[in-house]
Amino acid sequence: MCQPIIVSGIEVSDKIKQDIAQEVEAIKLRGGKIPHLAAVLVGNDGASQTYVNAKVKACELVGFGSSLVRLPETISETELLKEIERLNNNDNIDGFIVQLPLPKHIDEQKVTQAISPLKDVDGFHPVSLGKMVLDLPSFLPATPYGIVEMLRHYNIPTEGKHCVVIGRSHIVGSPMSILMARNSYPGNCTVTLTHSRTKNLKEITLQADILIVAIGKPEFLTADMVKDGATVIDVGIHRIEDATKKSGYRLIGDVKFDEVAPKCAFISPVPGGVGPMTIASLLKNTLLAVETHDYASQK
Ligand code: GUN
Repeated sequence: MCQPIIVSGIEVSDKIKQDIAQEVEAIKLRGGKIPHLAAVLVGNDGASQTYVNAKVKACELVGFGSSLVRLPETISETELLKEIERLNNNDNIDGFIVQLPLPKHIDEQKVTQAISPLKDVDGFHPVSLGKMVLDLPSFLPATPYGIVEMLRHYNIPTEGKHCVVIGRSHIVGSPMSILMARNSYPGNCTVTLTHSRTKNLKEITLQADILIVAIGKPEFLTADMVKDGATVIDVGIHRIEDATKKSGYRLIGDVKFDEVAPKCAFISPVPGGVGPMTIASLLKNTLLAVETHDYASQK
């Protein structure tokens, strides 16, 4: 039993947002282009609406321009691709995202690949991911980028550590495994990427110094799967009914926090952990997009 250090995404993201707001002020003073992020939301999924609204609100907070492009659930793939082309060609928009998941009749890969790599602030385009793998400057996918920044902020040791990632999604698990193995800080871990077909998962997680849990199953990671002194980062977010709350629900993660926390050196909570960091990283990428465009136009 120990008292873990709570890795607060609220604290770290607030600091990042303050820094970005200062940078926006500096851009204004020198008469530069104010960063502008657009978000495309297809359909009426409740969780997606919440996330996109939070992204737009964060833009306002730091002084970015923002646009929300709302499209009906029934939009055809062709029409959505046309909208993406319009955003690619709109010089006022520095970066944009298409909130996932998309309706079943739309091919997410096609949509992701239609976004200009210069505006791909989600970092999901093959060009962005390829650059990341090669250690070239690029837009890092927002959630893994946010986790890296949390580990850095709390000075969590990573070199030579065994990092076990649970979940191999294109958005989180897979890029996270690559970032933790990079020759940098945070990084230099020995990484095991586990997934739904992994055998003897508990044997593997018990060897982890750092556990990054992105499996999408509520309270999946239990205390018996965690070594004493481990660092646990919870990427999951799930709404469960709770009649004691005004909203009628509360949020939980992929980690059974109450029983896992006493075993940890560091643990990120849900809510208030990775979630706010994803948004802060998106803002960082949008600032980077403006700088990259400036550079490209000066050449
Ligand atoms: N859906 C869940 N997470 C994300 C994200 O980081 N970006 C986008 N575009 N959609 C998501």
